[in-house]
Amino acid sequence: MPDDSEITLSPPERALHERYGTLMGPPAAWNDVLAALLAHRSVRSYLPDALDPGTLELLVAAAQSAATSSNLQVWSVIAIEDPARRERLAQLAGNQRHIAEAPLFLVWLADLSRAQRMADRAAAPLEALPYTESFVMGVVDAALASQNAAVAAESLGLGIVYIGGMRNHPQAVAAELGLPPQVVAVFGMCVGKPNPSVVTDVKPRLPQCVVLHHEQYSIAREAEGIAAYDASLTRFQQKQEMRPVGWSGSILSRLKGPGSLSGRHVLREVLARMGFPLA
Ligand SMILES: Cc1cc2nc3c(=O)[nH]c(=O)nc-3n(C[C@H](O)[C@H](O)[C@H](O)COP(=O)(O)O)c2cc1C
Repeated sequence: MPDDSEITLSPPERALHERYGTLMGPPAAWNDVLAALLAHRSVRSYLPDALDPGTLELLVAAAQSAATSSNLQVWSVIAIEDPARRERLAQLAGNQRHIAEAPLFLVWLADLSRAQRMADRAAAPLEALPYTESFVMGVVDAALASQNAAVAAESLGLGIVYIGGMRNHPQAVAAELGLPPQVVAVFGMCVGKPNPSVVTDVKPRLPQCVVLHHEQYSIAREAEGIAAYDASLTRFQQKQEMRPVGWSGSILSRLKGPGSLSGRHVLREVLARMGFPLA
């Protein structure tokens, strides 16, 4: 029986194969948007070249085209090109070198401060703002906007990687970026031309039988799906010359205790100090 690599696949079949690390059969439909979405991979090595003029504004237009809760638009983004500031942010994110290397670093913000200023100017009450729901709206809005920008960047041949490390030291990040109260960095995103000498591959995801439920939640095929995923991620890690630890072990160790949260176990208290009481 031929192994997967010996079977000739159409481009859509190959894209699905890479996404799941297993043969999937032809998709029901295919187009350039689907091809771009399925080809996503995080990029952690960049050329120093600046982006073409107008690229940032195009990415922000894509970001602003995302849906937003009640059209509140409770998010903002800061574009950082200054190498010294990128270096300081790299340090704050656990010395992640790609932040210093990429020509553009975007910090995506949950931003309730604009609504606060509007209410202040209008002398209007704003009693809904301190609730957890408002904070969640800001985080969701920032996430949807940033993912649109990510897809737009990738469609232009650029690479991106999200940086959750912005939450390791949220107050120091806020000081570096001059954030007012009621604004917090949800995550960052490196953007740049991928370094062609560092090959990145599509990282397989969990089989759909683990994440897709029909009508009601079901764990009937969860264990089998996770076992299959451990095997496909181990193959991916071997190919990338990474430690072949699979998925389950690394997830359990990432979540085993507050010590593995890179200082973020105190996030709720820090958010309260930054103007998010999370009532
Ligand atoms: C919110 C968020 C935060 C992330 N933070 C980091 C980070 O700080 N550093 C990093 O190298 N990758 C980070 N990543 C990238 C993930 O590790 C990556 O998306 C995941 O391993 C899947 O790999 P892929 O993006 O190549 O498919 C982050 C991703 C997300 C969505």
